[in-house]
Amino acid sequence: MVAGVSVLAKCRVCGRRAVYWVPWANTWFCKEHFVEYFKRRVIRTYEKYFPKNHERILVAVSGGKDSVALLHSLTPHLLDKGLKVSALFIDLGIKNYSQKAYRIVYENTHKLGIPLIVTRLADHGFTIDYVAYLVVKRIIRRPVCSICGLVKRYLMNKTAVEKGFDLILTGHTLNDALAFATQNIYSGNIYDLVKLKPYIPGRDGLVARGKPLLFVYEAETKWFVEAVEAPVLDVKCPHTPRTESIIIHVKKSLEELDEKHPGYMSMAMKNIVDKLIPLLEEKLPKPRLVKCRICGMPSSTDPCGFCRLKIRISKYRLGRISS
Ligand code: AMP
Ligand code: FES
Ligand code: ZN
Ligand code: ZN
Repeated sequence: MVAGVSVLAKCRVCGRRAVYWVPWANTWFCKEHFVEYFKRRVIRTYEKYFPKNHERILVAVSGGKDSVALLHSLTPHLLDKGLKVSALFIDLGIKNYSQKAYRIVYENTHKLGIPLIVTRLADHGFTIDYVAYLVVKRIIRRPVCSICGLVKRYLMNKTAVEKGFDLILTGHTLNDALAFATQNIYSGNIYDLVKLKPYIPGRDGLVARGKPLLFVYEAETKWFVEAVEAPVLDVKCPHTPRTESIIIHVKKSLEELDEKHPGYMSMAMKNIVDKLIPLLEEKLPKPRLVKCRICGMPSSTDPCGFCRLKIRISKYRLGRISS
């Protein structure tokens, strides 16, 4: 895939000098019309897959290019429809990272004039840096990123419930989602596959969730934030694994395939979402949800994963577990 200034190419819409070549649309765009094209696609996903009964929407923004692109592309449309929109930033307590991320999220919400809610993991007695320390000490036997994912999902839902939001939006894009879907198909993990939909309705204390960027390529979010001059985080999380996992290999091979056959990835995701998942959903029983006896949040286990993590950390602090 190529994007760059071309001396010769002209924007398909206005005929001015083009800046972005979008292989899967087989089209050159100037900056203004690329922005329009990107927004139209995100809005189309929202309008096609999301029911119209949501009123208070919480956009989870990490400061990375994807969720910043989501915020800028969809918020004006939601506000025009008369919906209430706020952003959520989760401060995970990662040194040299979380504070920078907060500044970026703050700047973007300020630019758009929408409220920002900040939830701090430290208020629950620990940080992701501390989790990383416990992983090294083998007190916690799961990768840091997997614990971080659990923590983020929990805090997003808890914040939405407590503040009265009825929909949570995240910036998951096509490249990661399709790699995850492919990996789930190959490994037979059907229950995780069916969660890869643009919209998951709420139930039993779980707030509805959506991924309006599910059909948008990662490269496009990069060009979009550049084009609208939105600030984005330029550092990586220090806990990003150094070795490449199988999912990263799957993602790279899908991207290579898409370079040879532009549009292959978005076609695959659409077929998974529109044809495969509905069939699987008919067959699969809905996983049972229970109320966590400690925090009251919905979960597949009791106590929930977040409370079990807190219990393990406090046992370690009390000297009741050692490495
Ligand atoms: P990740 O799990 O890092 O791939 O992020 C997926 C999505 O979760 C992002 O696009 C955001 O919408 C959301 N997210 C990740 N980290 C945070 C954070 N610290 N605060 C708020 N939302 C986040
Ligand atoms: Fe979660 Fe890095 S942001 S481990
Ligand atoms: Zn143009
Ligand atoms: Zn709990």
